[in-house]
Amino acid sequence: MRISSVAFGVSCLLSQAFAWGEVGHRTVAYVAYRYLSLNTQVYVDNILNYHDGRDIGDAAIWPDQIKYGRPYTAPWHYIDARDSPPTLCGLNYPADCGDKESDGCIITALHNYTTLFMDPKTHPLTRQEALKYVIHFIGDIHQPLHTEDAFRGGNEIPVCFRKACSHHNLHSVWDRDIVHKLVGIPTAATHEQETKAAKDWADRLVGVDANLSLLKAECDDVVDPDQCSLAWARESNAWICKYVMKPGLEWLSSNDLSLEYFDGAVPIVEYQVKMGGIRLAAWLEAMIARAQSMQSARKGTQHVLREMEF
Ligand SMILES: *[C@@H]1O[C@H](CO)[C@@H](O)[C@H](O)[C@H]1NC(C)=O
Ligand SMILES: *[C@@H]1O[C@H](CO)[C@@H](O)[C@H](O)[C@H]1NC(C)=O
Repeated sequence: MRISSVAFGVSCLLSQAFAWGEVGHRTVAYVAYRYLSLNTQVYVDNILNYHDGRDIGDAAIWPDQIKYGRPYTAPWHYIDARDSPPTLCGLNYPADCGDKESDGCIITALHNYTTLFMDPKTHPLTRQEALKYVIHFIGDIHQPLHTEDAFRGGNEIPVCFRKACSHHNLHSVWDRDIVHKLVGIPTAATHEQETKAAKDWADRLVGVDANLSLLKAECDDVVDPDQCSLAWARESNAWICKYVMKPGLEWLSSNDLSLEYFDGAVPIVEYQVKMGGIRLAAWLEAMIARAQSMQSARKGTQHVLREMEF
């Protein structure tokens, strides 16, 4: 989803209001939290430092809330596969990552904030922001249309959903409408409805106990982050040809997508959101473990240096 002109930029910001929507992002975060060890949960809560009832779900939506005040962050929410769906899907890296006017894409942004988070010299406020960005971007990378350039990630494909045709496009339907119908809340739900729906959905996706062998199977190389994030982005992008744009533009624009298209999308959305949560948990475990060991290594060095002074 490339912003190719100022005019597009404005319409893009409007139509892209929340990306994966609040429910999708919150659910990824709540699934992840259920998979975290108690130590990591406490570490995350301490860094977020909320004392007003907000939680990791609010951290997950923060990068969308500040996007308007920090327009340079907008390209960090996606990568633009310049492929030819529905015939040919595929990502080229780094060719598809940003353009001349923008500073990178979701792959470089995840790399940047994972590295900044672990660096003991990072300012605490930047570390807190880095954590929120990581939580958000691992959600976004699992939304197939955040890995696609065609029709600005589907923003330019007008569609109908639940008989509403204006202000709907393929991108917004995947960000929000399919998710809201799936969890049983109206398109224009209240904040409380969205938060509760996300908690319930996460509980259903995780089941009674988080299956930790799923967590251990996931990619968590926080030292060389591009390997993992590119694999996730390629998996998302593959859904574009396998399902998201498969019926072709004409079919997508002339059928109500809340019917059989919705039915086929549900297992894909549930898989992507659940895997987003599990991968986020594996990432946070690895990132926080390394941050802690780098911190104690630094303290050790400082201690030795102090002793040498005397
Ligand atoms: C990395 O993060 C810093 C701190 O927020 C930001 O100023 C910089 O633009 C980021 N760079 C990239 C390439 O994302
Ligand atoms: C946990 O996941 C593993 C790997 O997919 C699977 O083999 C195992 O049966 C699962 N365990 C439970 C209790 O669901």
